[in-house]
Amino acid sequence: MKKYILVTGASSGIGRQTVVELAKESDDYIIFASIRKREDKALVERVSKNVKGVYLDITNRTSVLKAFKFITSKTKTLDVIINSAGIVTAGPLELLNINDIKSQFEVNTFGPLFLIQTFLPILNKNGKIININSMAQTGIFPFIAPYCASKRALSILLNALNIELKNNINIKIVEINPGVVQTPIWQKSIKACFDNLKKTNNKTVLDSYQNELDILKNNAQKNQTKGLFAIDIAKLIIKIIKNKNPKTRYNIGLDSHFVFFISKLFPCDILNKLIEFKLKTLK
Ligand SMILES: NC(=O)c1ccc[n+]([C@@H]2O[C@H](COP(=O)([O-])OP(=O)(O)OC[C@H]3O[C@@H](n4cnc5c(N)ncnc54)[C@H](OP(=O)(O)O)[C@@H]3O)[C@@H](O)[C@H]2O)c1
Repeated sequence: MKKYILVTGASSGIGRQTVVELAKESDDYIIFASIRKREDKALVERVSKNVKGVYLDITNRTSVLKAFKFITSKTKTLDVIINSAGIVTAGPLELLNINDIKSQFEVNTFGPLFLIQTFLPILNKNGKIININSMAQTGIFPFIAPYCASKRALSILLNALNIELKNNINIKIVEINPGVVQTPIWQKSIKACFDNLKKTNNKTVLDSYQNELDILKNNAQKNQTKGLFAIDIAKLIIKIIKNKNPKTRYNIGLDSHFVFFISKLFPCDILNKLIEFKLKTLK
């Protein structure tokens, strides 16, 4: 039987690899791959005849509604929604422009929530919503706090939705929390961070964060070549799709397991001391 699947953020990284693996997995999977740029439509549709590129900017309500119209012109029901679109807003909170922090929430929190609200009426009553969250939702990573907060907020909202929906339907909302995955997201975040900080008038404070910004830059560089591969997440997504009774949360990657473990183990003051110590060792 055909399964209709929507994947957001399909132009790159985890979303793109998920489209590739889904197409390989079964000819019964019809995949709507969300993209924003014209050239990316050809890129995703090249994967298989079962992949349809759908223009969707998750922060733009009209664009989400247009995508809904397009998808409902092809199918009456969706079986799976995979929320992978995301960005990382990095930098010292003292200097970040509040609008850049709001944008972080628009992409990572409000966007996926609005998308789910929009597509819920056509989601199969036994359907699944799979969200690529992050170990960052533990909130223990300074200098990417907007990212951590946006992921934690999404986790809370969707956990509540999961409980609320159980009243009458069997839709499963599943969260995946990867550790570091080798994708372009970290390099993009560093570029955005330095572009954002150019707007600050407070050069003296900016200079005082030079060490921390160097650490951010180095970490972003390292993250491109360490940790999980996007295919590891894509394979887990396929396992979840096939599982009639998946768990609500999957942590994947040693770093993710470690971070969730220590963030539950230590009280806030001790955890903060450990984080400060770790930052000092990186300097
Ligand atoms: N990589 C990691 O270490 C890691 C770890 C844990 C969780 N995650 C999560 O995994 C998800 C995928 O990230 P990734 O690592 O695969 O990053 P990526 O390679 O940078 O891919 C991000 C995707 O999101 C799309 N996107 C960004 N803003 C959008 C918007 N406003 N509307 C629609 N699409 C938008 C991008 O499209 P464009 O190409 O058009 O910009 C791109 O397709 C994210 O939610 C991220 O937080 C990543």
